[in-house]
Amino acid sequence: MIDDLKKEIDGVKQSFLKEIEQLQSPENLAALKERYLSRKKGIVSQYLSRLKEFAAADKPQAGQLINLLKAFIETTLVESGEKCGGSRGSAEKWNDYSLPASEIPLGHFHLIADIQRQIEDIFLNLGYEIASGPEIELEEYNFTALNMPEYHPARDEQDTFFLNGLESMILRTHTSPVQIRYMLEHQPPLKIIAPGKVFRKDDPDATHTPVFHQVEGLLVGRDINFSHLKGTLELFSRSFFGSEVNLRFRPSYFPFTEPSAEVDISCFMGCGQQSRKGDGGCMALQPDCRVCKGTGWLEILGSGMVHPQVLRNCRIDPEKYSGFAFGIGIERVAMIKYGVPDLRLLYENDLRLLSQFG
Ligand code: DAH
Repeated sequence: MIDDLKKEIDGVKQSFLKEIEQLQSPENLAALKERYLSRKKGIVSQYLSRLKEFAAADKPQAGQLINLLKAFIETTLVESGEKCGGSRGSAEKWNDYSLPASEIPLGHFHLIADIQRQIEDIFLNLGYEIASGPEIELEEYNFTALNMPEYHPARDEQDTFFLNGLESMILRTHTSPVQIRYMLEHQPPLKIIAPGKVFRKDDPDATHTPVFHQVEGLLVGRDINFSHLKGTLELFSRSFFGSEVNLRFRPSYFPFTEPSAEVDISCFMGCGQQSRKGDGGCMALQPDCRVCKGTGWLEILGSGMVHPQVLRNCRIDPEKYSGFAFGIGIERVAMIKYGVPDLRLLYENDLRLLSQFG
């Protein structure tokens, strides 16, 4: 009786091994397992239920043979499960679900768009709204309403693209005309930023491209003064460049602001220790600093108090209201914050470069 069982069990082992050799897929593996090990109808269970047919003296040995068969089938199944994709059968059909997934290449914003969003986030958190205006603009809004009448020298300084056949229409040279459009349509208090493309007839070089990006800022309300401008720009600069930077306001001239100031941040790279005492950004100036060229300061934006005439042009009473404005060059801050040495690199669509800013 026992000998017969031994033979049978050997036969079962052989056919099990044959079947496992021919496995095509993990689904087949599961079916095989079911057929041999299922509690109710599995082959092993069928043997176990036949135990009662054995004489009492043979039962232990018979039970042991069946249990060994069960253990053999279980371990072989586990092994072949692990070898998914291994040498057996049509291996290429096996999947190893424990392998890490292959990487799906994901896109991300271009550095310029990313910086624009960083700047937007900072001002949105301060309660500013985002405004926009057209890239093809009226000369009236781009210049005249901004206190640059027809023969004003500042109109030449900004080499303008005129549009053939479209009189008085130009490609906007800055985002400042959005100030005009917004003030014509809204009464103070108002608080906006206006990001967008601007166009100038510049020959491309490391720091100029004929199309570039600015973020305009404008706040108009009652009793707004220069310290509001200072506080706002300080908060912006420290959020954007890091809490350790200092600001320097240099007197400047823009037709649409009075007084006007250009704003520098203290160099935050390679210039040694920094100070908040107003004695420059760099305590230990490094003449060969590639970022600030040894000056300790980096120009980041133009700003000022909105000129009363600009308010009047927009039907806002300068006796009642005052405001400040600023214009940030996105490419300029990209060069500073990310050390971009040549702006043209950003527009050549070389992914090896662009993917570094993701
Ligand atoms: N529009 C100026 C430019 O393109 C930048 C600017 C300076 C904007 C001062 C402003 C400002 O709003 O107040 O160079």
